[in-house]
Amino acid sequence: MTNSRFLKGTYVSEPIDLAAFPHGFLWGTATSAYQIEGAVAEDGRSPSIWDTFSHTPGKIDNGDHGDVACDHYHRWPQDVSLMRQLGFNAYRLSVAWPRVMPDGDGPVNAKGLDFYDQLTNGLLAAGITPSVTLYHWDLPQALQDRGGWPQRDTAEHFAAYAGVVAERLGDRVPHWATLNEPLCSAWIGHLEGRMAPGLTDLTAAVRASYHLLLGHGLATQAIRAAAPGAEVGIVNNLSSVHAAGDSPEDLAAARRVDGHINRWWLDPVHDRGFPADMREMYGVELPERAGDLTTIAAPLDWLGLNYYFPAYVVADPNGPVPYGRSIRREDVPRTGMDWEIEADGIESLLLRLTEEYGARKIYVTENGSSFPDVVRPDGSVDDPERTDYLERHLAACASAARKGAPLAGYFAWSLLDNFEWAYGYDKRFGLVHVDYRTQARTIKSSGRRYADIVRTHRERG
Ligand code: NOJ
Repeated sequence: MTNSRFLKGTYVSEPIDLAAFPHGFLWGTATSAYQIEGAVAEDGRSPSIWDTFSHTPGKIDNGDHGDVACDHYHRWPQDVSLMRQLGFNAYRLSVAWPRVMPDGDGPVNAKGLDFYDQLTNGLLAAGITPSVTLYHWDLPQALQDRGGWPQRDTAEHFAAYAGVVAERLGDRVPHWATLNEPLCSAWIGHLEGRMAPGLTDLTAAVRASYHLLLGHGLATQAIRAAAPGAEVGIVNNLSSVHAAGDSPEDLAAARRVDGHINRWWLDPVHDRGFPADMREMYGVELPERAGDLTTIAAPLDWLGLNYYFPAYVVADPNGPVPYGRSIRREDVPRTGMDWEIEADGIESLLLRLTEEYGARKIYVTENGSSFPDVVRPDGSVDDPERTDYLERHLAACASAARKGAPLAGYFAWSLLDNFEWAYGYDKRFGLVHVDYRTQARTIKSSGRRYADIVRTHRERG
C-alpha cells in the first residue's frame, strides 16, 4: 500500500461493503466548539484554558489561536445548510462549558445556552440528528485557577454543568457524550505539556485522569436525571498497539503503551477498575473514595471510538512513562500530520471493543486525515488522499460490522478545516475547505465522495 497511485495520476476507488451498515446508520461529521466557533468574548463567554494556552507565546504554530476560527458562532446556519446539502443525517458538536457556565460553576449564562438551543433546532429542521459532547477540552479558566482536573470538585462542577445542558437540550438531543478523548486532557495536557493547561507533572496527570473519569460517571447520572431517554456514552481515542520487534522488552513496552492509551480509559468504565500494572507503573496514589469506581462504571449506552493511526512500539526504559515509544516506520503511507495510515487498526479496535469489552453500540465518533489542500484557480479543492483515507477506513468499518461489531454511526473528522490545537490552522482535516481570510467554505472532492457514499447507502434502504 503506497501513495504512489496518486502520483501516477489515477485514483482508484476503494470498494466499501455498504450493506454491512444497518438501516438508520448515522452518517455525519464532527467538530468541536473551540476549534470552529470563534466569538470567544461574545454573549458572556469566559476564557477557557485553550484561550490562555493559545495566547501563550510559543505554544501554537504560527501563534494561531481560536479567537475567530471558522466564525461558526455567526455562520452556523450556513454550516448546517452545507451538511444538509451533503445529505448527512447526523452531526457531532461540542458545547463550550465557558459559554454556559462562565465561572465553571454557579450562574448559568442564558445566552450561551440559547446558542446551542438554536443550533439544535436548526439541525433538526435540516433533518440532522445532533450528538452533543459536553467536554472537548475547553475547561473554564476560572476552574483551572482553582486547580483544574487534578482537583475533585472539577468533576462535580462538570456534572452540574452537564445537567444544565441536558435539561435544556435533552428533549431534542438523543445522543450525549460526556468527555472527548480524556487521554489528551490528562496525558497531553498535564504530562507532556503540549496541550492546555500545559503541565508536565505525572502526579497532576494521574489525578486529572481519575477526576476526568469520575466527572464522566457523575455527568452520566446528571444527564440521565435531566433527560431520561438520553443515550449516553464516552469518546476515547484508542490506538491499535503493536510491538515493533519480537523482543520481550518490546512486547512488554507494547503492553504498557496499550495500558496507557487504551486500558486506563476503558477498564474503569467497564467496571474493571484501574489496571493494576499501570497503577504500579505510575506510582501515584489515586484520590479514590468509596463508591467512586461504581460511579465511574455507570453502564453506558454506547462507546465512541476516535481512530487516526496505529502505534508500533519499542521499549524506552530511559524515556518518560510508559517507558515505550512509537517508532517511525519507513515506507508506510502517512497523512499530512505524519501519522501512519493503517485502516486495519480501526477494524481491530472495533472488534476489540465488541469482544473484549462487550460493547452494545459503537459510534466511530472521529476518523479523518489532514493534508495540505489548495484551492485551484477554478475554485475547486481536489483531495484524493483524504478520499482514499476515508474509503479505506469505511471499508474497514464495514468489515468489522460484518464480523459482529455493533457499529451504529460514523462521524468524519471534520466538517470544516479548523483550529488543529497546537498545530494551528496549517493542518486541514475538513471535508469542506475554509479560507480563513474570507471565511469562504468550499466543498472538497472528499466531501462530495462522502456525500455519494451516504446517498448510496440511503438509497439501498
Ligand atoms: C481528535 C480531537 O478530538 C480533535 O479535536 C482533533 O482535531 C482531531 N483528533 C485531529 O487531531
